[in-house]
Amino acid sequence: MIRRAPAIAKVCVMGWPITHSRSPLIHNFWIRQLGIKDALYERLPVPPNEMQDTLKRLGDLGYIGANVTVPHKETVFAALMRHDAMARRLRAVNTIVMTDDGLEGRNTDAYGFITNLRDRAPNWRADRGPAVMLGAGGAARAVAAALDDAGVTQIRIVNRTRARAAALVADLGLKRVQIFTWEQMHEALASAELLVNTTTLGMAGERDLEIDLKPLSPSALVTDIVYTPLETGLLKAARARGLDVVDGLGMLLHQAVPGFEAWFGRRPQVSAELRARVLADMGIVEGKP
Ligand code: ATR
Repeated sequence: MIRRAPAIAKVCVMGWPITHSRSPLIHNFWIRQLGIKDALYERLPVPPNEMQDTLKRLGDLGYIGANVTVPHKETVFAALMRHDAMARRLRAVNTIVMTDDGLEGRNTDAYGFITNLRDRAPNWRADRGPAVMLGAGGAARAVAAALDDAGVTQIRIVNRTRARAAALVADLGLKRVQIFTWEQMHEALASAELLVNTTTLGMAGERDLEIDLKPLSPSALVTDIVYTPLETGLLKAARARGLDVVDGLGMLLHQAVPGFEAWFGRRPQVSAELRARVLADMGIVEGKP
C-alpha cells in the first residue's frame, strides 16, 4: 500500500516587492505556537503583470489562502468574483480565503486598525469628539471606514490633494466628514480627540511630519500607521506634549488574525511575545531607543 505524505496547508503573501514583509514571521509564529501540523506561510513575489494568472493557479500551487499587499490589493479585488462586505466597501483585498465556492477576497485592514487602537488605548471612545485623519491614500480608506463604523462624531480629512480626499468620501459614502487642505491644519486639529497619520510622511527614508499639535484637545490620542520607525516624529512630538500615543505595529499584527483563523480554524492571539518577536526582527528591544 502506498502511503501518501500528508499535504501541507500552504498560505502565502503576494506582493511586489515582498522581501520585507513580516507576515511570514507573524503567521509562522502562530503556526508553531498553536502546534498546527503541516502548515507553512511563505512569501510569493508576484510582478503586477502576473497577478491575474497567479490567482487562477493559486490552488494548483498548493495554497489554501493568501494575503495580498502592495501593489496588488485593488487588482485582486477586481479579479475575484466573491468578496466580504469590507473588501467591497474599500474595493481592495488583503486576505484571500478558499471557500467551497472558490476564492473569496476579504479586507481586514480596518479591523486591524481599530482593534489595535482599542487594545493599546482602552480609554479612547469614538464618541468623545472629532477624529483627524492625515492622508487619503489606500491605507486611509481602511482607517476612515474603521472610524466611521466605530461611530466617531466627525472625521476631518487633511490631504495634500483635495480631490483624492473627496473621492475617498464619495466612494465610502461617509456622512459625518469634513475635508481640509494641508494649509488648514490648525483649524482641522482644533479640539480633536484623535489624530491618525496615514500618509507616508515619517516613514524611514521620508521626511517627518512637522505639525503643531497645540490645537488638539489635551485628552487627544495620537496614532500613526507607519511602524518603521516604531516611534515616528509625530508620536515623539505627541508624547512630549503628554498626549497618549499608539504606534502602528499592532495594526499589522491584528489584521493578520482573521485570515489565520479562516485558513487554519484557530483564532491566534496578538501577544506581547509576538510583538517582541517582530520588534526583534526590526532590531528593536522595546523600552530602548
Ligand atoms: P498608502 O497605500 O500607503 O496609503 P498612497 O495610496 O500612495 O499610500 O497614499 C499616500 C498618502 O500620503 C496620500 O494621502 C498622499 O497625499 P496625496 O494624496 O496628496 O498624494 C500622502 N503623501 C505622500 N507624500 C506626501 C507629502 N510629501 N506631503 C503630504 N502628503 C503626502
